[in-house]
This record gives sequence, structure tokens and C-alpha cells, in this order.
Amino acid sequence: MIGQVAGVRGVAPLLPMDAVRWGAVEDCLRALMDAYGFREIRLPILERTELYARAVGEVTDIVEKEMYTFTDRSGDSLSLRPEGTAGCVRAGIEGGLFHNQAQRLWYQGPMFRHERPQKGRYRQFHQWGVEAYGMVGPAIEAEIIALGARLLAKLGVETRLLLNSLGTPQCRERYREALVRYLMAHRERLDDDSLRRLERNPLRVLDSKNPDMAALLAEAPAIADSWSAESRSHFAALQDHLAALGVAFEVAPRLVRGLDYYTHTVFEWTPHETLAQATVIAGGRYDGLVSGLGGAPTPAVGFAIGMERLVALVTRLPAPPVLDVFIMASASFQRQALVLAERLRDAGFTVETHLAGASGRSQMKRARDSGARVIVEAKDEVAIVHGGPVKDEGAMPWAEAVVRISQILGAEANIDGK
Ligand code: HAM
Repeated sequence: MIGQVAGVRGVAPLLPMDAVRWGAVEDCLRALMDAYGFREIRLPILERTELYARAVGEVTDIVEKEMYTFTDRSGDSLSLRPEGTAGCVRAGIEGGLFHNQAQRLWYQGPMFRHERPQKGRYRQFHQWGVEAYGMVGPAIEAEIIALGARLLAKLGVETRLLLNSLGTPQCRERYREALVRYLMAHRERLDDDSLRRLERNPLRVLDSKNPDMAALLAEAPAIADSWSAESRSHFAALQDHLAALGVAFEVAPRLVRGLDYYTHTVFEWTPHETLAQATVIAGGRYDGLVSGLGGAPTPAVGFAIGMERLVALVTRLPAPPVLDVFIMASASFQRQALVLAERLRDAGFTVETHLAGASGRSQMKRARDSGARVIVEAKDEVAIVHGGPVKDEGAMPWAEAVVRISQILGAEANIDGK
């Protein structure tokens, strides 16, 4: 066999130079998860297709057109997860996490949607999700929105926070009726997709990406007109909380989100209002989902970050960990270099080695590019420390190398007598 095997469209590896950026963003996220008391849950990538049909909604773009669905050898219909919330709820119910307990969970990993690939839209992409269970009312919504705002500020990402409320299921039903009346009155202006949605899930008509329908949808009734007094005060209280926290937001009356499980608050952070593929973080409250999937009624709210989109927008990256020592070795001194590297690691230093027997020049280039504080060359029974930010210390006997290098790095060495 000759020739290359092409990768799958919209599915890309993360190369080492990009992984450094991702790692720094993930470190920042992990620290924030701790700061807000969220705990990790690791979720399967494969679930039964039915889970997404029931949770995300049968008449949504995700379930109708985008899932990677197949029948396995036992005849079960399975899907690669297109999002994390449904699986998180399922795992929480099965694991008994929701019995009269408040839970704050986070997960991360690849999600799969068969969308048309373009910048910021992939078929395999990564989400970092944050979900809080067992807490009613707008305060927890404000808290997780503050978490998102803090993350974006830390990473120097400029976005706008858009906020809306879908109200209670009863408000939604009232709104559905008003919307259907309006759309029926303008039936002749609807495209085929929207006509079909009008029958099965009218709110999804608002998701239409067809520019010819934009004017019609802009005039459609707003959901705010269908809010109950409870929904109105819930949404007003959320806005008061956010103002008290100093989190800026804009109310976006037509924001409905593309998944069916939301109630009350929905929100998105986006750099551009008009580009659907630009939304970086999106989420909302979904009080009906846990009971809808067979659990005890449990209020819930959360969001998911699109990691590819977030990493692309980062302007301020937390400093990457510094490499302390880079060791280069010619072919005949590789064993000494190996031992020295291990001893320095014993002493708590970060060490990278070049053991490929390349020319001294190319090794030195790698060493300089590594940004190491100290560069050590293993040869002739001595280790020579080259400049880097630390000034050149010259040659030293092998036996003294660990102690001397530790002193140069100015750290307390923990050398176990060897
Ligand atoms: P979503 O709006 O479908 O919500 O996705 C959340 C985020 O994932 C988007 O804002 C975007 O950043 C990213 N994303 C989605 N599709 C793609 C794609 N094809 N390529 C790149 N990035 C993408 C959810 O998935 C909900 N589970 C969020 C949630 C959590 N709601 C409550 N809890």
C-alpha cells in the first residue's frame, strides 16, 4: 500500500504547538472550576440515539441532520455525542447524584456534529461544560455567568453577553400559539424547511439561517409578551444580580437557542451578533430535563464553551510553565545524560533532553528554542552549562553536576544523597 490516507473532513488533530495554547487555557479553566466548587465528571462519548432525540429534541438541527448515528452489532442505535448536557443528566440519574443534593459538575472532551465545516465550525469539536443541579432561582445562574465572564476577562477575550428568557413551559406554550398564528398568517413567505417546522416544532422556525426569512422573523412576536409574572420577576432578578456583580449584558429578545430543553434563562457570549458560528459559550436553565429523562424533578442550569472558538480568541495567555534544564548529549554520553536528567527531576526540576544524536548545532538550536533557563551539554565527563538567561558557568565534573546546576537554578534541591 502506498500513498496517504486522508483525514476525515472537519476532524483535525491538535498539533503540539497548538496543544501548548490549549493546555494553558485548560489550566486556567481547571483553576476556575476549583475556585467555584465544580467537580469533574467523565462522560461516555457513545450514547443511545434515543437520549438525544428525547433531550435535545426530535425536531432540531442537531438530531435531524447532524448526528453521527449507527446501528451497532447488537442492533442498538447509538450516536456519537453531539453535546454533553444530555449525557451528564443521564449519568447523574444513573449514578444517583441528584437525590436531594446540589451538584456542581464539569466535563470536557470531543463532541461530534455533521455540520458544514468552516472556520469555527467542525465535525469533531471540543466543549468544556459546566452544569449546576438542584438549585432553583436566578442566583446560581448569575454565579455561573460570573464564572464565564471571569474566564473571558482572564483570557482577554472580548465578547458580548446576550441574555433572554424562555419563561416556564406554560409561557412557551402561549408563545408557541402566538408564533404559529403569526407564521400561519404569512405562510406563503415560509421556505419548505420552515413549513415543516411550523407543523412539528414552531419555535425552531426562529433558528432559520435563510436570509430571505430574516425580515419576516424580525417582525415575529417576541417571547417577552408571553411571560408570566413569575418568569418576568425571575428574569428581572437575574439582571439585578448581574448588575450587582458588575457583569455587563444585553437582553436579546429573539435568542431562543437551538436545543429544546431550556426553560427560563438562556444566554450566549458572542463576538458578533450575526454569525451563528461565532458563539463561544452558550447555555441556560433546563429545569425539565432531569425528570424528562426519568429522574426526580431537579432544577438545572449550565453552559458549554466551544474550545476551538475560545482558544482562537484568546489574547492574553497565562504564562506557560518554564523549562528549567535542557540537556543535549552526543552519542557516547547519552547514558550520563539520562541519569543526570533523572537526578535533576528527583530534585524537582523540569528537564527536557535531546538524545537523538543530532549534530551539536541542531541540538543547540532546539535547546535555545526550548526557552530553558539552563542548557547542559553532556560530553567528556563534564556537563557544561551554557548561558540561556543564566550566565555561562563553564565546565564541571559529572559528580558535581546535580548540586551545581541546582545551585545555579537557585532552588532548594532535594537530592537523595546520590
Ligand atoms: P450549543 O450551543 O449547541 O449548546 O453548543 C455550545 C458551544 O459549543 C457553542 O456555543 C460553540 O462554541 C460550540 N460548538 C457547537 N457546535 C460546534 C461546531 N460544530 N464546531 C465548533 N464549535 C461548536 C450545547 O451544546 C449545550 N449542551 C450547552 C449547555 C450546557 N446548556 C446547558 N448546559
